[in-house]
Amino acid sequence: MTAQSHATPARAARLTGLGSWLPPRQVDNSDLASRLDTTDEWIRTRIGIAGRHLADPAVATSDMAVEAALRAMKSAGVEHVDAVILATATPDHHVPGTAPLVAHRLGLRQVPAFDVGASCSGFVYATAVAAGLIHAGTAGTALVIGAEKMSAIIDPADRSTAPIFGDGAGAVVLTAGHADEPGALGPVAWGSDGEHADAIYIPGGGSRHPSPSTGDHRNRFVHMRGNEVLRHAVRRISYVAQQAAAAAGWQVQDVDRLIVHQANARISAAVATALGISPERVPSNIAHLGNTSAASIPLLLSHSAIDRELRASQRVLLASFGAGFTWAATTLVWPSGLQALT
Ligand code: COA
Repeated sequence: MTAQSHATPARAARLTGLGSWLPPRQVDNSDLASRLDTTDEWIRTRIGIAGRHLADPAVATSDMAVEAALRAMKSAGVEHVDAVILATATPDHHVPGTAPLVAHRLGLRQVPAFDVGASCSGFVYATAVAAGLIHAGTAGTALVIGAEKMSAIIDPADRSTAPIFGDGAGAVVLTAGHADEPGALGPVAWGSDGEHADAIYIPGGGSRHPSPSTGDHRNRFVHMRGNEVLRHAVRRISYVAQQAAAAAGWQVQDVDRLIVHQANARISAAVATALGISPERVPSNIAHLGNTSAASIPLLLSHSAIDRELRASQRVLLASFGAGFTWAATTLVWPSGLQALT
């Protein structure tokens, strides 16, 4: 008699809740062009952005994170999670982390809560950490949030950054399940290269230069060598996407939907071409949101689910790139019955 294998599939993190929130104030390119040396046409053609949502001064990252988290938890039908991980480059304060504050406001008393700082890759990094906790049995459920108030760290007078970034938040609930179930996250591929740490950075306000405005008041804002970032982004996203697809046992060109970090429409198009994925399989919301850093991927997941761009059984590949440089990608088969709330 031939022995048959009935091994139980590995424990894995499944996507069971999805939510997002955008500040209501919309700023279009003509608003920027009225005070900066730029044009609506330049921003549309070079970046693919027509407008962005910006938070009012009194709104902090935690406020947006709470709104997205409430929607994700309602979407999952849960009132409790075992851990809260917040990906952000714009915490409310240097100390403490913003995640404990968010957990408290959600009524999640005493759950572990911490921030992940990996810039625009932060959401996929945080998802990988949460999936690891679930895989290890340390947590049964996790809330992963990407939230950013980029307008707090962007110089409104800098035409090389002000048109690019926007504010917002997105969140997911991950729940323990099995690796062969729809919604289960596949292996993560990720990496970093600190040689390029100053390609996108804020010079002041950290331990290197504690005074935010040492030498120049603009040192509290993001400085960026955009063209260098663009070239690395295309190369790294294409590479890490291929790695994640291969780790899942997929051919990358067979992916049904590529959810790529919304940094520049030209970056997304170049990555899709490099991977052999046709443009209609690459949803986008950059035109109306800009680059929302760590919030970009959960916001795009949420909007794509609502638009029915994401449907049950599709093979979905998430891929991101950000300051550091950092990059990360993972996969999932889209689950049925998941209702995104926004
Ligand atoms: N309006 C008009 N002209 C602008 C401009 C603006 N808002 N910003 C820059 N320019 C000018 C530059 O001064 C330069 O002029 P010059 O040729 O006279 O020197 C020209 O446009 C080209 O600049 P360059 O930086 O080479 O353009 P680019 O094609 O690389 O596009 C970015 C600039 C910033 C849009 C692009 O590099 C980009 O999107 N980079 C990635 C940024 C990013 O994603 N950051 C976050 C990472 S997650």
